[in-house]
Amino acid sequence: MPILIDGLTSLEYRGYDSAGIYIPGAGSVRAVGAVGSLKSKLPKNLKGESGIAHLRWATHGEPTVANAHPHRDCSGTIWVVHNGIIENHQELRDKLIKEGHKFLSKTDTEVLPHLVEHYFKKEKDLERAVLKTLRDIRGTYGAVFVSEQEPDKLIAVRMGAPVVLGLGDGENFIASDPSPILRHTKNVIYLQDGEMAVITPTSHAIYTFDRARVRRSPEKVEWSPEQIQKGGFKHFMLKEIMEGPEVIENTLRGRLVVDKGLAKLGGLESVSEKLRGVKRIIIVGCGTAYYAGLVGEYMLEEYAGIPVEVEVGSEFRYRKPVMDSETILLAVSQSGETADTLEAIREAKRKGILTLGIVNTVGSTIARETDAGIFNHAGPEIGVASTKAFLSQVTALALLTLFLGRQRQMSLVTGKRIAKELLDLPEKVDIILSDHQKLRSLARKYSKYDDFLYIGRKYNYPIALEGALKLKEVSYVHAEGCGAGEMKHGPLAMIDPNFPTVAIAPKDSVYEKMVSNIQEIKARKGKVLVITNREGKELRALADDLIVVPKTLEMLSPILTVVPLQLFAYYFAVEKGLNVDRPRNLAKSVTVE
Ligand code: G6P
Repeated sequence: MPILIDGLTSLEYRGYDSAGIYIPGAGSVRAVGAVGSLKSKLPKNLKGESGIAHLRWATHGEPTVANAHPHRDCSGTIWVVHNGIIENHQELRDKLIKEGHKFLSKTDTEVLPHLVEHYFKKEKDLERAVLKTLRDIRGTYGAVFVSEQEPDKLIAVRMGAPVVLGLGDGENFIASDPSPILRHTKNVIYLQDGEMAVITPTSHAIYTFDRARVRRSPEKVEWSPEQIQKGGFKHFMLKEIMEGPEVIENTLRGRLVVDKGLAKLGGLESVSEKLRGVKRIIIVGCGTAYYAGLVGEYMLEEYAGIPVEVEVGSEFRYRKPVMDSETILLAVSQSGETADTLEAIREAKRKGILTLGIVNTVGSTIARETDAGIFNHAGPEIGVASTKAFLSQVTALALLTLFLGRQRQMSLVTGKRIAKELLDLPEKVDIILSDHQKLRSLARKYSKYDDFLYIGRKYNYPIALEGALKLKEVSYVHAEGCGAGEMKHGPLAMIDPNFPTVAIAPKDSVYEKMVSNIQEIKARKGKVLVITNREGKELRALADDLIVVPKTLEMLSPILTVVPLQLFAYYFAVEKGLNVDRPRNLAKSVTVE
């Protein structure tokens, strides 16, 4: 039981509105809320040599005890935990109910144990019953089955939701990502779509759904268990913001040849010649990764001269995008598991398009399914609101810009300049972080407001969007990000003394325009908190509060301007006493559509 509970705790960041555990022979306990509420309900005698546990992020059916996993069949001998969505669950449920099955929850998942029960009666073999079940269902799943009759055996299946095996000494594990496995073993095998794994404490076997044996050697996970602990910080979000300098260093490590103004990207070597002919890039991501992509658009167009479009995965996958052999798709994803981003990649691959990834999680589905890419090396990000991953994503996009730019028109001088400025970023982020107490008092001062506007232009337009997203995610206050030029076309109407604006206005090619926009807000009696890198009289006079970050190249300025906004959102939520690392309704890894 402790292994399962610890495992759930390290997965808590993925989703957490209810939790449950089942131990063959000992029983099941389920609770609404995070692992803490489950723990408080656990009887001491819930012990065993094997078991399954789950954290739920509700899709079908509210977060109630009845809807929490694991789910069981009528006899209470076959149990399952499931991530994903069974799309045809209603028709299957109706059929099973007609056959006399009794359902206890409103979830789509519950059809799984009942179907297995149905087939087990005929087959008398759990693996076969599971495989027959899979033929009936449509949708996505990463699921684990266990039967009280064979308590030592777990069966995992995967179609669209991640499953990883951990191979230990006399003990084996199954989880949806490596974090709960790491404290037991670093040897893991990632299951692929259409595969089933059968483990016992001393054996493991992988099969296709046609029961052909799959031979795959384990790989070593480099993340250490310490990396997924708070290390003295009150919250993961603060720890991860504070890791910014180190994360940029890790993303850059070994990838810059400064005197030649080049980026050396091992993960792109295999497609390097192909990339010379690329005429258009489509960047796809969700949430914060999408905003990193927007910064990439400005960089790649200005410095590599390649037309770029950026789109959220959930829209791209349902469009009829016009792509030809000179177009590539670049997916940006921290987890490497976001369902919409993944489907966008698959759609592009179906059309024969080359796909690249900027992914943090080695071994993740997006990392495996893209043709080539850049790993972030940012280390595990646990806070639901992405912070350090964003810094790393924009850094990786700058590396890509240098790489593609130098294949094209970018001069040696410009290449060297970008490389040098990139190397200086960690120290500059450090300077911003050392001023975190100032952000703390500003957050306190502004925490009485319920509405915020964030404005920026050009490279810092995406930062306005990201800054607003950070505040929304962790503080639950209304925050709108908008291009400063668009303000007059609507958002300005909301401005009054109770509707402050956060303006990102570094001294860049659009600085004067930003100053005018700030003036427009002041003329409407709006309060303005300005993030800049120039402490001139002009802004001092205009701004109600001013945060000054170090100077860098315009294209790299988002990496610096975003940091105070991350701290601001963090301290704002802390001020409100909210659960910063696990904001309500959100999940870290969105593996459902
Ligand atoms: C969720 C997370 C965000 C993240 C987004 C995309 O919404 O809460 O922090 O930006 O998913 O995730 P990805 O793993 O693809 O970067």
